[in-house]
Amino acid sequence: MPKIVIAIDGYSSCGKSTTAKAVAARMGYGYIDTGAMYRAVSLFFVRERVSLFNNKEITAALDEIHITFNHNNRTDRNETYLNGLNVEEEIRKMYISNIVSEVSAIPEVRWSLVAQQQKMGRRRGVVMDGRDIGTKVFPDAEVKVFMTADTYTRARRRQQELLAKGELVNLEDIIKNLEKRDFIDTTRAESPLVRAPDATLLDTSHMTIEEQVDWVIEQSDRRLSEL
Ligand code: DC
Repeated sequence: MPKIVIAIDGYSSCGKSTTAKAVAARMGYGYIDTGAMYRAVSLFFVRERVSLFNNKEITAALDEIHITFNHNNRTDRNETYLNGLNVEEEIRKMYISNIVSEVSAIPEVRWSLVAQQQKMGRRRGVVMDGRDIGTKVFPDAEVKVFMTADTYTRARRRQQELLAKGELVNLEDIIKNLEKRDFIDTTRAESPLVRAPDATLLDTSHMTIEEQVDWVIEQSDRRLSEL
């Protein structure tokens, strides 16, 4: 059976990572959360006080950053490690969400992470979610999905996620953060968030996670049957 790359791009809080994770589990594929990688770099920059305007500092910092993923059997979650330390919880906090779009707009950061992501998926058999997977990381991905949902639905989902982790944030602040991130993500010069011409649009506003997963699996099965 050939193995394919499934690229899931789109706006934040559309259910990309939950869907991608479940699709990967059902297909026996690896799952790579590229947003977590940009978040881990942001955390490193905050901790080491790296100036976002100093290219030399940025390049030197990137050389010191090593990001890995590890499956936690107890929680059944994929967790992100920064230089060997579990940073999964920390990178999901609001203070990281507030700077990650700025960090991910820095060309040096993107070059470094895109190269790592291409390496991670070089044997195919992966589901990767992000903003530029179908356009930049794997333009030859066999399945490309572009997810969207209305802002209110996305904000409610993000609020529930944060609440489940004990962080209470009001909806207005989340909407502001989402809109600001959408703006930066779609207007940055280096690989902005755009729908690849060959990506299928999936509006998840009125879909359950199960429906989203089934939909991606269906696309993938169809594609696999053509190979
Ligand atoms: O998916 P997420 O919300 O965890 O992503 C965090 C940020 O990282 C998001 O605001 C944009 C950026 N990102 C990116 O620029 N390219 C990717 N492939 C993944 C995420």
